Amino acid sequence: MSVHILAIESSCDDTSASVISDGKIASNMVASQKIHSQYGGVVPEVASRKHQINIIPTVHQALNQAGINKEDLSAIAVTKGPGLMGSLLVGVTFAKTLALALRLPLIEINHMHAHVMALFIDEPKPNFPFLCLTVSGGHTQIAIVNDEFNMEIIGRTIDDAAGEAFDKTGKLLDLPYPAGPVIDKLAAAGTPKYKFPEPDIRGLDFSFSGLKTSILYFLQKQIKNDPDFIKNNLEDICCSVQTRIVDILIKKLIKAARETGIKDIGIAGGVSANSGLRNAFLETAGIQHWNAFIPKFEYCTDNAAMIARTALFKYEKKMFVGQDITPEPRLRL
Ligand code: KG4
Ligand code: ZN
Repeated sequence: MSVHILAIESSCDDTSASVISDGKIASNMVASQKIHSQYGGVVPEVASRKHQINIIPTVHQALNQAGINKEDLSAIAVTKGPGLMGSLLVGVTFAKTLALALRLPLIEINHMHAHVMALFIDEPKPNFPFLCLTVSGGHTQIAIVNDEFNMEIIGRTIDDAAGEAFDKTGKLLDLPYPAGPVIDKLAAAGTPKYKFPEPDIRGLDFSFSGLKTSILYFLQKQIKNDPDFIKNNLEDICCSVQTRIVDILIKKLIKAARETGIKDIGIAGGVSANSGLRNAFLETAGIQHWNAFIPKFEYCTDNAAMIARTALFKYEKKMFVGQDITPEPRLRL
């Protein structure tokens, strides 16, 4: 009998629903909330209200595109955390209700686990143990992934996440939120002519808050001489910032690979959609003789396909939960 799992993701500002049918992603619908760009960041109250509006149409679209009815489903999976409480509540309550109504098993998923498991959606897949650098709006970490359910974090940010570094730079440059994709595009037409200092963080941990401060001071100084400095040099500024962020990430990944001796290495999370990071990672992999793995673009930023793929691993082991589950905004790996 076929296995069809419906997965729901609503941890931040994207409402997403996906169906995985017999191990293949049959649909992955994402309803993005453009409204936050005018506020310069995600407004939690607005996000949860939008999820409430978007969730039923998004689930319908996911089922339609997969060509199945809700009666064909084998299980329902949902993101339990980490994320925004109000946003998570919408997804968890919806999933619990649907599972109850359809008498289906319920599967809870850790969003950060799922970002890594996105590496198992398509071929080729990494072999265990592998290293994964997960870079998103709220997290930046390197993990040794021992198996489908077990990963050990060996490095993490002590302050801002890499995505935050992009987004906060965007604020300084008056770019819309989220600034990561915008900086990525602008950087492609620039050169890394401005050098920002490298954080002095030992071991495998990261720090990005100093970079933000140095960008702020740099801009203030330049604007004193040329009030239009940002406008006149936007592409070069973006390219310089992006180059520094990518350099910080890649250096730690090289260090982690050396220390662990692991050669299968992946990147995941929203920032892994960055073309500068993808190129630098593939180039480094060639030099270091790594086997490099990157999810398809649409499986890097928040999506329910990664939730569905992780759910299939749990379904196979019958790792189900009861109706008493609640969201956990600070859920850890
Ligand atoms: O994984 P994700 O979609 O959501 C979280 O779990 O946080 O990551 C969102 C982050 C944002 O900070 C966004 O600016 C960044 O990923 N991002 C990018 C790119 N696309 C998304 N950063 C740099 N370049 C991109 N192309
Ligand atoms: Zn995410």
